[in-house]
Amino acid sequence: MGVFGYIGKNKAIPVLVGGLRKLGFQGFDSTGLAVLEEGGIWITKSTGKLVDLESKLSARTFTSTVGIGHTRWATHGRPCDENAHPHTDCHGNFAVVHNGIIENYLELKEWLISEGHIFRSETDTEVLPHLIEHYYEGDLEATVCKVLNKIEGSYALIVLSCKHPGMLIAARKNSSLVVGLGEEECYLASNFSAIPEYTKKTYVLDDEEIAVLTDGRAQFIDFQGKTKEKEVCEVNWDASVVEKEDYEHFMLKEIYEQPKVLRDTLSGRLADEKVVLKEMSLTPEQITGFNKVAIVACGTAYHAGLIGRSLIERWAKIPVEIDIASEFRYRSPLIDDRTLVIVLSQSGETADTLAALREAKRLGARIVGITNVVGSSVSREAHDVIYTWAGPEIAIASTKAYTTQIEAMVLLALYLSQAKATMPQEWNREIITELKRIPDKASEIFMQVPKIQHMASYIKESSSAFFIGRGLDWAVALEGSLKLKETTYIHAEAYAAGELKHGAIALITENTPIVALNTQRELYDKTLSNVNEIKARGAQVIGFTFKGNDSFGQSVDEVLYLPETINELAPILTVIPLQLLAYYVSLARGNDVDRPRNLVKSVTVE
Ligand code: AGP
Repeated sequence: MGVFGYIGKNKAIPVLVGGLRKLGFQGFDSTGLAVLEEGGIWITKSTGKLVDLESKLSARTFTSTVGIGHTRWATHGRPCDENAHPHTDCHGNFAVVHNGIIENYLELKEWLISEGHIFRSETDTEVLPHLIEHYYEGDLEATVCKVLNKIEGSYALIVLSCKHPGMLIAARKNSSLVVGLGEEECYLASNFSAIPEYTKKTYVLDDEEIAVLTDGRAQFIDFQGKTKEKEVCEVNWDASVVEKEDYEHFMLKEIYEQPKVLRDTLSGRLADEKVVLKEMSLTPEQITGFNKVAIVACGTAYHAGLIGRSLIERWAKIPVEIDIASEFRYRSPLIDDRTLVIVLSQSGETADTLAALREAKRLGARIVGITNVVGSSVSREAHDVIYTWAGPEIAIASTKAYTTQIEAMVLLALYLSQAKATMPQEWNREIITELKRIPDKASEIFMQVPKIQHMASYIKESSSAFFIGRGLDWAVALEGSLKLKETTYIHAEAYAAGELKHGAIALITENTPIVALNTQRELYDKTLSNVNEIKARGAQVIGFTFKGNDSFGQSVDEVLYLPETINELAPILTVIPLQLLAYYVSLARGNDVDRPRNLVKSVTVE
């Protein structure tokens, strides 16, 4: 889902379409835009792809220099033109685009209908233009403030009105919104990635903040109408990074970017003998005061958290709990001021993760955020932030964010271990030396792409697949199975290798492809015996291990030997062939690799 707005000296339609194209990489099922034309609001909407909207737009020439646009991922009401944004009031004086959910929309809608308003869609968003219409008495700013105090929920919204042709008004609560400042023009976008093409000067709206854009100037007020001063935030991305360049898909580009972004994420954080995290404000006394760590995240970020849990317990000797963020609040977690809570989120805007962060903060915990987006909600609400420097991740299937999140967890685990002096200095040096080698070792994996493409042939016709491993390999198996599921639509399941015999092995037939990960040297033999159990049932096994593990390599149907590294850093390397495997199977199945069905890049609704 994404909102985009433009007001300035250039024609609005091309800018709006460009912004929607950038936002569209996050996935959507319908799109639309509104511009001021000949004194009125002109709206064009379309289900399906952006090209469908563009073909509708080509029907006439627009001169407007102000407009708003939206890419929708349906939450209330099926994908169709009527439910696509922008939505307007009864008389077409106000148009609104909105990201998020208006939680009290039903009671508002019933009241507005009782007041004579006519609704055309099933969406929650449509109450907004009707509320504005209801309260409008000439001052649009004051009207928007009044409306925002009536609604509950999350929103990044933009208002366009033919009664105020030189103005756009935007507001944010629990859903990101960025203002871009150009020469006598302003941009609005729900995601940073839509801005660098136009300007690097941005303002990030805080929660319960309103932006009033007029003639290339931005003013900010709170919901009580009080003016707020804001700092400019320089976007450190070039527009080119949000292009595929010579890759067929963003996912492939981002897989191949991993050696570079792994190097970038380590940059400035490794001295010879220790980890240096200037962004952390925790003192050694505070660190030794923590009696527990809690990790919360969703999806791929959760899988990176699983690696972090193991490393923090092994190296920093602190007990670690980990929760899927959407479950965290409901188990009445025992969190207090002696708990360090680590929140992982690539986008920094995932609603489930933000809700968990806020609950942990309410309970008194110290929050460290690990995120890829500067200025994101996680980065602003955590006490400390460790940024992954992966650059914008456009493909919906997360790849480089995951490996750099693992790196950030490695750095944090070492940082905590150093503060508590739990490991000998020599050991620190060895880990750091090996960590510096990981980006080059990641590059070596790409020499085995032909083998990975061959492995894809074992899976591409299957309807199900298993990923198995022990210890850290199990955590990586979870990520490998998610990659396959979300890009190929094959039902894949990750299983602790030792647990298969307790039931799930009943599912395995000779056509079930099994991906077996075996990088944890002390578990080589145990995982091999699990592989033999499934081979005995005729399954085809694709194995990933290190050179020298010959008995395993000879037992599986296809084996890929990974560049050697220590057990704890193996996940960063093991996952890369699994990302490529999912990519090539998805390609073979003719899927939209970058934008798989039903998915969006940042899930900003709970
Ligand atoms: C990853 O491939 C998925 N697209 C999804 O699970 C994602 O990791 C999850 O939604 C969390 O997103 P975040 O890291 O932006 O919070």
